[in-house]
Amino acid sequence: MKRHVAGKVSWVGKVDWELRKFHGSEYSTHRGSSYNSYLVEEGKTVLIDTVWQPFAKEYVDNLEAELGLGKIDCIVQNHAETDHSGALPELLRRRPDLPVYCTANGVKSLKGLWHGDWDFRVVKTGDSLDIGNGKKLVFVEAPMLHWPDSMFSYLTGDAVLFSNDAFGQHYASEALFNDLVDQDELWAECVKYYANILTPFSALVSRKIDELLGMKLPVEIIATSHGIVWRKDPLQIVRKYAAWAKDYQEDRITVLYDSMWEGTRKLAEAIAQGVAEASPSTAIVALNTAKTDKNDVITEVFRSKAILVGSPTINKGILASVAGILEVVEGLRFKGKKAASFGCSGWSGEAPKKIAEALGKSGFEIAAESLACPWEPDEAFLDRAREYGRAFAAKLR
Ligand code: FEO
Repeated sequence: MKRHVAGKVSWVGKVDWELRKFHGSEYSTHRGSSYNSYLVEEGKTVLIDTVWQPFAKEYVDNLEAELGLGKIDCIVQNHAETDHSGALPELLRRRPDLPVYCTANGVKSLKGLWHGDWDFRVVKTGDSLDIGNGKKLVFVEAPMLHWPDSMFSYLTGDAVLFSNDAFGQHYASEALFNDLVDQDELWAECVKYYANILTPFSALVSRKIDELLGMKLPVEIIATSHGIVWRKDPLQIVRKYAAWAKDYQEDRITVLYDSMWEGTRKLAEAIAQGVAEASPSTAIVALNTAKTDKNDVITEVFRSKAILVGSPTINKGILASVAGILEVVEGLRFKGKKAASFGCSGWSGEAPKKIAEALGKSGFEIAAESLACPWEPDEAFLDRAREYGRAFAAKLR
């Protein structure tokens, strides 16, 4: 359904209330998502991005019913990933003459994904498309936000920045605008999205924000490709990104663990108690990685100044749920955070050392020797774990 955004800009995307996993099963979407597509009806009628493939027919049928496919003059594809280009094959099957504006990497990606021999028009930063009525779409390449092909499009006059993945969030809402939704939910989804998707590209995020602000373009609206449209103080999300991109951390410590026979869980809880005793103002969260959503775990790591990671030893190694999180953490390349490791063991006891090695390799500063407990912790060892937590918190003050 067509929804008015500003001037002659409308939203024509798809709200996906049912979505619970995105990127295959890599990203949990507790609150669904949306694939935002926009129509700019000036002298030329321009379609900006499309929707995910399962909704392609519904989307193109809606465009036919509400506008008439014959009215569309061209498509701007800001980013080739399937969730935004999924309706291109259906649309271009019905309108094969439509030019598709995208970056050079966009052509490569779209050809690789859809194998279509379409009328591509390659654009780069500073290029613009005259769309009549004195207005232009100005293109700004934004590589790695979120793929090498990504770009922003800026509509002059109405000052709308079509930012695609950047500044988005996986959040289904019929309200459309940022000022009409629950702010706690909105920001929880924004930080989760940044933590899990954009963390490794933080240096590029910082540079792109500086470049955008340096262009001194007025921005009335930021129209992203997922979630709500930023119309009330749209630059608030840009300011947040600027902060998140600079080795973000809060006064927060997260304890991550998995446990076989409860020993490592007891250590985790005792360490958390010690942290709380030594530093009552520090937020402390203990999460069992086998029982907590992986992306929620990563969001906690992103917000924390330090993490303590524990696992019992199994087959001379680390339990799978902890090892999986360590693999994700390595790829996200967090900076400026401290860490330590712990765990119980029966016959050998390699896990804490292996965890510390993995965290060190991932860029964490190891702030304390591992706490390794042979067999089940008794009260005396739990006191030691509390003291370990107190000492760890004290080191971070
Ligand atoms: Fe929403 Fe990178 O796709």
